[in-house]
Amino acid sequence: MPPNDPVLYERLADQWWRPRGPFAMLHWLAAARAALVPPASRPGAVLVDLGCGAGLLAPHLAGKGYRHIGVDLSRTALRQAGEHGVRGVQGDVLAVPLSDGCADVVVAGEILEHVHDLPGAVAQACRLLRPGGLLVLDTLAATALCRWVAVTVAERLPGLAPRGVHDPALLVDRAVLIGECARHGVRLTLRGIRPSMTDLLVWAVGRRASVRMVPVPTTAVLFQGRGRKES
Ligand SMILES: C[S@@+](CC[C@H](N)C(=O)[O-])C[C@H]1O[C@@H](n2cnc3c(N)ncnc32)[C@H](O)[C@@H]1O
Repeated sequence: MPPNDPVLYERLADQWWRPRGPFAMLHWLAAARAALVPPASRPGAVLVDLGCGAGLLAPHLAGKGYRHIGVDLSRTALRQAGEHGVRGVQGDVLAVPLSDGCADVVVAGEILEHVHDLPGAVAQACRLLRPGGLLVLDTLAATALCRWVAVTVAERLPGLAPRGVHDPALLVDRAVLIGECARHGVRLTLRGIRPSMTDLLVWAVGRRASVRMVPVPTTAVLFQGRGRKES
């Protein structure tokens, strides 16, 4: 199977919600991502989750007051997301079938490093945001360090990333990401994160249910981004 093949998500369809399965780290990242999303500022606020997968973000948004709409190519993932309260829209993040300005918050968690057109995906995310709306994302940096840590190493360790999920050629150029966001009126700020090493060791021996993500002084591997669309 070539890297970044969508078939992988079908092969692993029954693994999404296993907290110790091959998508375990996505659970930890979902918690860290949700921490960047404030409670909804108005009744009926909409959060659009691009590349939502099986909806792992949903439990972490509970009580924040959003209508959670998930966009993904995978019907099997969307079906599971639906079981967790996500309204699924089957579609490509490069051509999202939702209207301009429909979202109070757009989330792009672990999706930008899977698309062949980063500017196109950013344009869609920003198009969906209403003026003043919030963009929250996390992804992997296009650096040699990231290729080694996130692809060579992490894809060989259980729970961090399934083998072949990443195509190193698609890792995200941070300057391009920031520039494209700015072009669409979103001033993005980045911060690097990694799993807590203590938590990871305790999790690995089965004595923790999950692992906290902690800030690091570099965005050269895994990073979060956050920015508001100008009003
Ligand atoms: C690494 S998973 C991340 C899932 C979810 N955001 C999470 O963090 O749990 C990437 C997801 O993006 C979806 N995906 C990949 N390319 C896509 C595209 N062009 N349009 C929509 N979804 C896509 C895959 O089906 C998969 O569910």
